[in-house]
Amino acid sequence: MSETKTFTLEEIAEHQDKNSVWVLIHGNVYDVTKFLEEHPGGEEVLLDQAGKNATEAFEDIGHSTDARELMKQYRIGELCEEDKKKIVEIEEKNHWPVNANDDSSWKNWLIPITVAVLASLLYRFYMSYNV
Ligand code: HEM
Repeated sequence: MSETKTFTLEEIAEHQDKNSVWVLIHGNVYDVTKFLEEHPGGEEVLLDQAGKNATEAFEDIGHSTDARELMKQYRIGELCEEDKKKIVEIEEKNHWPVNANDDSSWKNWLIPITVAVLASLLYRFYMSYNV
């Protein structure tokens, strides 16, 4: 039976030079040292994220399902429970204002549409009394 290894954020952060590059994506730890040269997005972007939580950078690119399948072979373990909680806290803090903006985006089109509908109803009402 193979147990999943767990790592702390500190341990991951120790692997950020070209000889050993680890990245954290969605709570999983990947050793991408051997993948650097093969990465279609280039090694620079991976080196930039080395030793860090690369989840957002990874998702921002919109990696394909092939890429997600490929990354499985570089998985060496996952983040320890304690640090996972820290990450969630940080992500929630960072995302709250973004979500708040997302939330208001529907208002951005709902309000003009409501105004347009009301204006057209008023216009019809007005016209029906003035013919
Ligand atoms: C184990 C981790 C990763 C794997 C297996 C992986 C794999 C791939 C693959 C297969 C592609 C080709 C396009 C696709 O199929 O989506 C790609 C493109 C790319 N990746 Fe990654 N990637 C990883 C991590 C990252 C990270 C952490 C970044 C950080 C920014 C990144 C940035 C990029 C960029 C910029 C491209 C090029 C996109 C384009 O040209 O449109 N990748 N990656």
